Amino acid sequence: MGHWVFLIFAALFSFTSTQFIPPYTEECRTDMYPPNGPTFRGAVSWYTVDLDLPPTKRWTALITNKKTDLVNMIQAIKDLADAFVPSGRLIELVDISLPLVVDTLPNPFKDEIKGIAEVSGIPLGEVVLFNIFYEVFTVCTSIVAEDDKGNLIHGRNLDFGLFLGWDVKNKSWIISEKLKPLVVNLDFKRSNQTIFKSTNFAGYVGMLTGIKPHIFTLTMNERFSLNGGYIGILEWILGQRDGMWMSFLTRSVLENANSYEEAKSRLAQTKLLAPAYFILGGNRTGQGCIITRSRLLSIDVLEIDVKLGRWYVLETNYDHWKEPLFLDDRRTPAMKCMNHTTQTNISLKTMYDVLSTKPVLNKLTTYTTLMQVSEGRLESYIRDCPNPCMPW
Ligand SMILES: *[C@@H]1O[C@H](CO)[C@@H](O)[C@H](O)[C@H]1NC(C)=O
Ligand SMILES: *[C@@H]1O[C@H](CO)[C@@H](O)[C@H](O)[C@H]1NC(C)=O
Ligand SMILES: *[C@@H]1O[C@H](CO)[C@@H](O)[C@H](O)[C@H]1NC(C)=O
Ligand SMILES: *[C@@H]1O[C@H](CO)[C@@H](O)[C@H](O)[C@H]1NC(C)=O
Ligand SMILES: *[C@@H]1O[C@H](CO)[C@@H](O)[C@H](O)[C@H]1NC(C)=O
Repeated sequence: MGHWVFLIFAALFSFTSTQFIPPYTEECRTDMYPPNGPTFRGAVSWYTVDLDLPPTKRWTALITNKKTDLVNMIQAIKDLADAFVPSGRLIELVDISLPLVVDTLPNPFKDEIKGIAEVSGIPLGEVVLFNIFYEVFTVCTSIVAEDDKGNLIHGRNLDFGLFLGWDVKNKSWIISEKLKPLVVNLDFKRSNQTIFKSTNFAGYVGMLTGIKPHIFTLTMNERFSLNGGYIGILEWILGQRDGMWMSFLTRSVLENANSYEEAKSRLAQTKLLAPAYFILGGNRTGQGCIITRSRLLSIDVLEIDVKLGRWYVLETNYDHWKEPLFLDDRRTPAMKCMNHTTQTNISLKTMYDVLSTKPVLNKLTTYTTLMQVSEGRLESYIRDCPNPCMPW
């Protein structure tokens, strides 16, 4: 329900306060790769996170480097909070109550968040807020596809910042813009060996996009739902803590699961704080699925089935058996372009074309990540959506 309200409000807002002009959609893009031109803001830099270090020390190098961008981002969130609830009361609440929440988080997340607060000098409650944020406002597109040789390819656009303040002058979302400098690629190592890799936001300890090289690839999309939604997060803050944060689960699966099947069963069976979609790719033919989750259990698993002609699975933010909200149909254009590409021609290159086609690419898109499990490859690009462009 929250999503509907956001969308309608955002629609009214952008139609009345900007001279927003269609087209909302365009022909399927081609030859966008290697990334170039006005939809490509820049490359994403790599950092190593050493899992052999104590959790409080793991993020020191990255946060030292990204401190200014992180402080800017948190200031933007505070400005927005002040705009909604004047006189700083909301942030006061965050500074007082969220530090108490941090001690309820499981490790290593608790200590990692504390370490980030210490290195950045940002109050602990605000770092917690930043980490909760992504569990709440993420709209995305994720695709796992199998080419005609049985290679699995996984791509995603991460769209973030819906409703969090529209910059009328720049025709952009304030938070999405502030987030772009925080996009990083991370190489998590133990004993100097890569365990998994991810595209992340500096300061965030959960995972939305990642690869366990040669084994599986994983992305998470938000699922908006009446029965669940943000209630679980509220319950956690208020003291009832029997579910897992969604992006902590994805991180734990990337770190600890050693096969597609193991990842799939943990993602399907672990109790969560809020509903979610997990999009998982494996390393063998047929290993690609969308797991539609309620807080308690897996409601549905849609798998690649080449014999049935289903050579890819694609998820935005709506249950695949239902129509998407008419105001927010990124699924049909994305599927149209996938169908147009054909299984014979799918590759990281052509998947980037699909993810570069409006409105799959929109004003909320902060990054595009492409992963090829057989090569252990993860690459990501910071995106822009030049006008005219759909706000979401
Ligand atoms: C708007 O865009 C201008 C120029 O592109 C930039 O200097 C300015 O910082 C932007 N404002 C915000 C709030 O992002
Ligand atoms: C870690 O591995 C890299 C190459 O993969 C090597 O250059 C470096 O010396 C290794 N470091 C240690 C401490 O073993
Ligand atoms: C695929 O994953 C399995 C674990 O599920 C692993 O044993 C196997 O070596 C992997 N195959 C390749 C080609 O890496
Ligand atoms: C794409 O192809 C699939 C499988 O043939 C079909 O079910 C779906 O309706 C097509 N979608 C679009 C938007 O062309
Ligand atoms: C697949 O790619 C080849 C080479 O780029 C091209 O000639 C062919 O038309 C493409 N097929 C489809 C169905 O797009």
